[in-house]
Amino acid sequence: MTVTVVTLRETAPAERRVALTPEIAKKLKGLGATVRIETGAGDAAAFPDALYKDAEIATDVIHGADVVLTVQPPSDAQITQLRPGTVLIGMLQAHASPERVKLLCDGLITSFAMELLPRTTRAQSMDVLSSQAGMAGYKAVLMAALAAPKFFPMLTTAAGTIRPSKVLIIGAGVAGLQAIATARRLGAQVEGFDVRPEVKEQIESLGAKFLDLGVSAAGSGGYARALTPEEQAEQQKRLGEHVRNIDVIVTTAAIPGRRAPRIITTAMVEGMKPGAVIVDLPAETGGNCELTVAGETVVRNGVSVIGPVNLPSQGAIHASEMYARNLFNFLSLMLKDGALKLDWNDELIAKSCLTHDGEIRHEATRTALAAKV
Ligand code: NAI
Repeated sequence: MTVTVVTLRETAPAERRVALTPEIAKKLKGLGATVRIETGAGDAAAFPDALYKDAEIATDVIHGADVVLTVQPPSDAQITQLRPGTVLIGMLQAHASPERVKLLCDGLITSFAMELLPRTTRAQSMDVLSSQAGMAGYKAVLMAALAAPKFFPMLTTAAGTIRPSKVLIIGAGVAGLQAIATARRLGAQVEGFDVRPEVKEQIESLGAKFLDLGVSAAGSGGYARALTPEEQAEQQKRLGEHVRNIDVIVTTAAIPGRRAPRIITTAMVEGMKPGAVIVDLPAETGGNCELTVAGETVVRNGVSVIGPVNLPSQGAIHASEMYARNLFNFLSLMLKDGALKLDWNDELIAKSCLTHDGEIRHEATRTALAAKV
């Protein structure tokens, strides 16, 4: 019996991405799968139904699905329509809704949360956090460039010389490095800052300067750890002095599993030049700036603090293409000769599993749910 792989139309507000592109539909068909996609699922990402030549298009695709691919978690109503044993793959955001995880668990759904995938070398082609962060970093800088009342590059004009904008990128992970590269391409004078000292070389290789604030907080697995109160105070003192002269700040700092660290205080914003712009990329997880409001622009003393929401969705075509390839590479781990076979000894499968067979497999989510009951 062939595996039926289904893609749903996203239901989250303003979500434009789609989990399956025509390219991946063709590849899945090539692997012997039956591919179904909900009518109009790719419309917002500029993949109209007519482009899905290798998929069946219907309004009701959920019944009979063996595998369901999504970007954001399906709605509760959709989850209750899934058959026991259905494999669900997407960015399931367990932390955002333990109740939804319980629904998946009670429905005997085998769910994989792509954000839980270990970030090993073998997993790179499946790493949705990286592919989507790249788009977010790029769009954040473009958003800042549009909002700034200045040019980014240095210009020599008949009306005199324009000095280049000074851009500071805080956090030099995947999104931050893309932001640095984008700001450089626009001709700005760019500095990058991170608490992981090993990123200095990466920042410099992109033509930017590493801002050394004398604080180092490398954690495990290539991630940062939270700063101690003393380290944080030192960082804030030095940063406060430095940002007085900066035109644009794009913040991308995050610590896995925790709210985004507060790095830019209200006092720092008040010390900046009127016309300066801050784009706070982690606005949805609390923001790196004290003044940030997700989905809004706050203006304080002439400084605009922008809190973008779902930036990857703004680059829906490429974000969907990368995301769909990530999902295809992950699904390939469990598609053998056109049939589904889950190898629980494979750490990529085992560690990204959220629920299986009526059990919550992800420990942090299990603990969070137990605490709620
Ligand atoms: P992230 O989104 O968790 O954090 C973004 C950045 O914020 C990080 O560079 C972090 O050091 C920085 N940060 C945290 N607290 C800060 C503070 N108080 N001040 C300034 N900066 C702060 O990280 P992301 O981008 O998802 O990945 C981080 C790193 O993980 C990568 O650069 C890489 O080393 C590793 N990684 C490895 C992969 C692989 O080998 N497959 C794939 C992706 C990431």
